[in-house]
Amino acid sequence: MSTLPAHFLLGVATAAYQIEGAITEDGRRPSIWDTFSHTPGRILNDDTGDSACDHYHRWRDDVALLRELGIGAYRFSIAWPRIVPEGTGALNAAGLDWYERLVDGLLEAGIQPWPTLYHWDLPQPLEDAGGWPERATADAFVGYVEAVTRRLGDRIGRWITLNEPWCSAFLGYASGEHAPGRHDARAALQASHTLLLAHGRAVEVLRATSPAAKVGISLNPSHVQAATNDAADLAAAVRFDGYLNRWFLDPLFGRGYPADMLAHYDGAFTPPPAADLEQIAAPIDFLGVNYYNPHLVRANRNEPLLGASTVRPTREAVTEMGWIVRPSGLRALLRRLATEYPVRSLYVTENGAAYTDPVPTDGRVADPERTRYVAEHLGAAADAIGDGVPLDGYFAWTLLDNFEWAWGYTRRFGLVHVDFATQQRTIKDSGHWYRQFIAEHRAAGQPAAPPGDAAQPM
Ligand code: FCB
Repeated sequence: MSTLPAHFLLGVATAAYQIEGAITEDGRRPSIWDTFSHTPGRILNDDTGDSACDHYHRWRDDVALLRELGIGAYRFSIAWPRIVPEGTGALNAAGLDWYERLVDGLLEAGIQPWPTLYHWDLPQPLEDAGGWPERATADAFVGYVEAVTRRLGDRIGRWITLNEPWCSAFLGYASGEHAPGRHDARAALQASHTLLLAHGRAVEVLRATSPAAKVGISLNPSHVQAATNDAADLAAAVRFDGYLNRWFLDPLFGRGYPADMLAHYDGAFTPPPAADLEQIAAPIDFLGVNYYNPHLVRANRNEPLLGASTVRPTREAVTEMGWIVRPSGLRALLRRLATEYPVRSLYVTENGAAYTDPVPTDGRVADPERTRYVAEHLGAAADAIGDGVPLDGYFAWTLLDNFEWAWGYTRRFGLVHVDFATQQRTIKDSGHWYRQFIAEHRAAGQPAAPPGDAAQPM
């Protein structure tokens, strides 16, 4: 039984490049992920998002699926290269029309649309001009956000500016695991700043174009722990926390970049002007938290940027991604965020797990590990609320098995199985479980019938 408060929102999340496909249709032009996935060796099996879940064509069926599951809110992302195909300049009316149809379809189905404005698909021409390390990319983002939000601002209640800027900056520009695949720590630090600036400027735009909406950002903060009590490992964990968590949270909440990290990055990052920091700290209405796993950290002299790296535990369970399964990490993280930062409202905007699923048999996919993962994390969310954390909702990652970035189609996080050859969708046991959980939560939230209303004996 759900012990979540009646108003608690239960949703699912997706992202454009991971599900839409139709990459050349209706005026869409390449993003950094098209270029990256078409570069041999970048993605496992050289998979691409060319077709993905073909959601661009099947969105009506997918909205029907959301409805069947009883989903209260659908977090999806808008593809910048469908709206402003060259990054700046001409708008693509067909792209705006498509998202308008999707949003209206969701509203008709009684599902709250929660668009994310940037989930990693930077138009390629902007990368060619320098990408996120360049301030001009923030200017371009503002133009795109204005176009989208002027069109949809009257019917969207929640906007998310960016998804996980840490990934865009550090996986994209330092480790090169994600598009655009660069290996340049200075560029990554600069990118993190431009992303935060782009967020702050987008908040300002949204206040004008969508005045009734609430605005937030989704980060991937985590619970960080030293792998041992060794002094070097303890110090490495503090640096890792600075790098993953505080580097984003502190400026967003008006504290500027953390002093210990500025000192650590000395020479690689020039502290920005006060006006930028003020812009980044534009007040937000909620913070989105994407949580999958805690991080165990050790000192590592061979790691150039931080001198730290994460380690796999020897005893704890991991998912197919090798990510530790620890729901108590979510509770600890939420408590910390609510205690250390002036957050008014929190949402878990992503949480889920990849496991090797059996192929559908007689319309059924038995995935008990995923059900358990989601159920236990929802339990941790309820515990955090019991601790006083202002957590208002949870979005499972994800609706459909999809293109999992560098892992291609080899990692399945969906509550719904997708056969990529036929595009057949099959609700997994975890999806049926989530539907039931949502139904019970809704029923529990209904006011109890007054005593006199009980059926009278004949
Ligand atoms: C998050 C991403 C999301 C998905 C999950 C597994 O970091 O935001 O797109 O890939 O991981």
